[in-house]
Amino acid sequence: MEKFDIYLHSPEFIYICNESFDIYYKKDIGIKEEKIVFIGDYKEGKNKIGDSTRFYNLKGKIILPGFIDPHTHPVYSDDRILEFEERLLGKKYLELLKEERGILYTVKKTREKSKESLKKIVKERLRKFLEHGTLTIEAKTGYGLSVAEEIKHLEILYELKKELPLDIKITALFAHAVPKEKSKEEYIEEILNYGLKEASKYADFCDVFVEKGVYTKEEGKRILLEAKKYGMLPRIHADELSNSGGGELALEVNAISCDHLEYTPLNILKKMRNKNISCILLPATSFYMRLPFAKGRKMLDLGLSVSLATDHNPGTSFTFSQIFVAGLSIFLMGFKIEEAIKAITINSAKSLLMDDKKGSLEIGKDADLVVFDIKRLSYLFYDFYNVKKPVLVIKNGKEVINEID
Ligand code: NIG
Ligand code: FE
Repeated sequence: MEKFDIYLHSPEFIYICNESFDIYYKKDIGIKEEKIVFIGDYKEGKNKIGDSTRFYNLKGKIILPGFIDPHTHPVYSDDRILEFEERLLGKKYLELLKEERGILYTVKKTREKSKESLKKIVKERLRKFLEHGTLTIEAKTGYGLSVAEEIKHLEILYELKKELPLDIKITALFAHAVPKEKSKEEYIEEILNYGLKEASKYADFCDVFVEKGVYTKEEGKRILLEAKKYGMLPRIHADELSNSGGGELALEVNAISCDHLEYTPLNILKKMRNKNISCILLPATSFYMRLPFAKGRKMLDLGLSVSLATDHNPGTSFTFSQIFVAGLSIFLMGFKIEEAIKAITINSAKSLLMDDKKGSLEIGKDADLVVFDIKRLSYLFYDFYNVKKPVLVIKNGKEVINEID
């Protein structure tokens, strides 16, 4: 009889994170060849525990699916601490960009690095997501801001996919700001003429930052429609600082996800439901930027598919933790715990078109799971001053972090 590779015994609770948010008390999980093959009682599971089965006693702990972060900007060098201090004294984000700071400062610092040293920085950074329990991420470029540099960043992500125990979906974000050495029109022409074709060797998705003073809805549309021809599906930075047409653009190009949505009008949001567009909310950005939060509660009540993401980047959101983000949604946006956890697991998986394999703990799905040393899920938020990290991480059926034995 085929024995399990891994056996997880007697956790207090397993949170399945399926649509109905099933919770199992004192059930066990068996893993074989990277997949979940058993969820049930010990008296049944013990028959398939062999000499080579790795057995974990999880008494007093809980199991969740590995978190999925569907919006991050990890390819950069240096921080923006001085800008952070100035913003807290009242300086505006878009004013900084006009002064060739903000995103353009990070572009300058990132371009100074060789490919190898940048790759090393990004690799260390991606490990931090793992330490916080995020086992799948969407990673954007956007700090290269020339076709050659952006492709270099896409290559780095593509190489790291194979080197890290992390699933990475790659997004080409050429249109993140306007480079200072050329006109916006020239840069767009380069993106359309040869950038997107080259990017499609590495990227799954294409994104644009539609905002007043950055890219217009029409410019974003040209880029996203062309990207689609090369198989890169659209995602959009929409209505983050003002109602600038990003939400409407998501409807027009049938985007997979529409992200931020702080200023998107209600009638546009309602239409997203019919088009199956994932709404990806980034409350850590609103928090650090002292900006309004998206109307997440309203979106949930409208029946939209809502995900949460860190938006990790050096300018507006510095967290690696999806628990921190979920907590903000609970305390500041009115999410229920169950809604917040679904938004960082199964809904995020849907927004990356990965829900057939990831995002919930079900038989046949990938064995991506995280164990926390708490007796109930709500402790993650009860003790929110102390943002927790998992004590055991299993990625595709392999132990990645183990602090329990
Ligand atoms: O999602 N808004 C555009 N992009 C990022 C910020 C990037 C930066 O400031 O470096 C965001 O908030
Ligand atoms: Fe972002």
